[in-house]
This record gives sequence, C-alpha cells and structure tokens, in this order.
Amino acid sequence: MSGVSLQRLVKAYGAVQVVHGIDLEVQEKEFVVLVGPSGCGKSTTLRMIAGLEEISDGDLTIDGRLVNRVAPKDRDVAMVFQNYALYPHLDVAENIAFGLRIRKESKDVIASSVQEVGEILGLTPYLERRPADLSGGQRQRVAMGRAIVRRPKVFLFDEPLSNLDAKLRTQMRAEIKRLHKRLGVTSIYVTHDQVEAMTLADRIVVMHDGRIEQVGTPMELFLNPVNTFVAGFLGSPPMNMVKARIGSGDTGPVAEFDGNKLPLAQLPSLQNAVGKDVILGIRPEFVTVSRTKDDGAIPVDVDLIETLGSEALIHGSLQKEPFVIRTETVGQMDVLDGISGFKIKPDLIRVFDAETGSALPDQVTVQ
Ligand SMILES: Nc1ncnc2c1ncn2[C@@H]1O[C@H](COP(=O)(O)OP(=O)(O)O)[C@@H](O)[C@H]1O
Ligand SMILES: [Mg+2]
Repeated sequence: MSGVSLQRLVKAYGAVQVVHGIDLEVQEKEFVVLVGPSGCGKSTTLRMIAGLEEISDGDLTIDGRLVNRVAPKDRDVAMVFQNYALYPHLDVAENIAFGLRIRKESKDVIASSVQEVGEILGLTPYLERRPADLSGGQRQRVAMGRAIVRRPKVFLFDEPLSNLDAKLRTQMRAEIKRLHKRLGVTSIYVTHDQVEAMTLADRIVVMHDGRIEQVGTPMELFLNPVNTFVAGFLGSPPMNMVKARIGSGDTGPVAEFDGNKLPLAQLPSLQNAVGKDVILGIRPEFVTVSRTKDDGAIPVDVDLIETLGSEALIHGSLQKEPFVIRTETVGQMDVLDGISGFKIKPDLIRVFDAETGSALPDQVTVQ
C-alpha cells in the first residue's frame, strides 16, 4: 500500500502560514495532480511530502508509516524538478546510475538497471552522451531516469515540463502518462497548467491560497465545479460567468439579466429565493449557437471570431462582460459571421451564490 496521506498538513514560515491544514488521501498507484495559480502552495506541499521542507503541523504518512521526521532519503520517494540539474561532466548512463552508486549497489545491478531504464525511456542510443549534447526533452528524460532507477514507492514531480517548448511538452506529457501506466507507481504531480492537470490526472486537486478548493476526477471538476474559482480555473477558454437574479417564471424559477429570462427548472428550490443574486456558469462548449434574435436565444454582442481549424471561438460580450462561445467550423464556415446569440439546456448551467461563489446545492450532476 504505497499511498500517501496528508492530515491537516500545515506550513508556516515564521508567523506567515502558507499551507493551511490540508487533507488528502492519495491511493496506491494513483496519479494525482496538484494544480493552482502561482504562489498557492503547491511546491511547498510537495516539498513537505519529499522531506525537503519541515512540516509545521499535521501528519504525513507514506505507505502507512508516519514520516514527519524521516529524512528525505529514507522516505522512498523520488522527485523530478523543472530544473533537472544533471551532472554536466557525467554521461547519461552515469547520471542515471548516480543514486545507485551512492547506495553502493553492485556493478552488475547498476549496469542492468541503467540498461532497463534506458530502454523504458528511449535513451539507449544516448547513454554515452553528455547532457550538453542532448535536446531539452532528452535531458528531461534523463532526469526521469534518475528517479525511476531507484524504484521508489512514490514519484513527485514539480512542474517538470515547464522549461520545454509547447510541442515537446505535449509529447513528454504523453510519455509521462504512458510511463505511469507501465510502472504503476503512485505519483503526485504539481503544475499551474490546467491542460496538464486535465490530461495527466486520475484525480485533480485544485489549490488556492494554501487551501484545497476541490478534489475529483478531471471530468467531475470540469462539469461540476464546487465554486467559481474552480469553474474559472479549469477549461480553456474558461467558463463564462454571468451575473443574474432569481425570478419567478411560469414553470419554475428563472435567472433574469438584461431583460432575459433563462429557465432554471433544475433547481426548483430556487422558487423560494426570488431576488437572490447568483452567477451563472456557462461553458463555452455547452451552448448551441443561434442566428436569429427571436427564438428565445440569449443575444451576445459578437466582436471577434477566431477560427482554429476544426472549431471557432466566437468572442463577444454579455452585460458588458466578455462571453465566449466555442463551436465547430466544419459545414458552417459561411454562417459563423451571422451568430448573434446562444441557447443552453438548463441542466448544463451551473448556478453559484454571487456572495460566496459556492455552487448552490441540489443542482443536477452533469455527466
Ligand atoms: N522560504 C520561504 N519563506 C517565506 N515564504 C515562502 C518561502 N517559500 C515559499 N514561500 C511562500 O509560500 C507561498 C507558496 O509558495 P509555493 O509553494 O512555492 O507556491 P506554488 O508552488 O504554488 O507556486 C508563496 O506565497 C511563497 O511566497
Ligand atoms: Mg511551485
């Protein structure tokens, strides 16, 4: 059971607390991604798990063992950083073997381990090269090789792909995912990039200001964010946020804004909250476009169309706030210009309390 358990984990630098008591259970073999804006405490949390930062309060267990006071080298974890810091004077094989040498493994064990890791990572042809003679992606692979060769219970990654260009990043992302499928080692991965989080994670942990906002599978968080922070953080372009007030319609509660009335039949309890201020979360990809103004569609002032190939982003504004619609281009290139609004199924609208930003209870779960 190489799970990792964080219980009320706190980090304070002097009087300043930066991680405020977080709880998280990472299951054996799980790939968990900590994501959030810069400065929210991701690296600090990861470094506490690695043993590189002292834990101010709370408990950390790895594989069922309390490790708060266990030295990094005895925690059986391996960390891969953004700055992979290879030894420039050693070749690839020696870089990979470095940790095993320190542990005084036998020559045979080292040779076969390096061979195996080289094959896993596609580095066999480069084992005798120095880091300076490798591409960025190859260097990052060597850094991963150094982590893998130790056969740790847990891999910890801190923004390992941030130094790579966009194309290489996408490629390495897929390699890390394949590697995880193959080796099945429990992994905790830190990134500020929501696309990396969505594509890599079994479960995503969204952090904000030293706290956890929500934990769930990528699709759970994308479809059913618990608050406006998560709603705005995951998804590209992000969820549109529209200020509205609850009103009473013929068939149940409605959201009123700018003379529009959007039915909210999925939230009958709102019938008792007429006059309440809410924020409607509307995903750019969940709307259907409309080209007329009189079929009950919500009008949008369109000012820019970006065609990205298979799809287009229609930029406009609603209540003077930006509003984006994402739509397919194939078969409708000639009519994109005429888009003047949208319709959406009530179930796909997320409704948040305007005061607290929290999702209102009793919403239909989107699947
Ligand atoms: N050694 C330190 N002393 C004081 N504050 C620190 C130190 N290291 C990090 N912090 C603060 O802790 C917060 C979280 O930092 P960090 O975990 O690096 O964020 P992230 O990795 O999410 O970008 C930030 O506000 C940062 O300024
Ligand atoms: Mg960081």
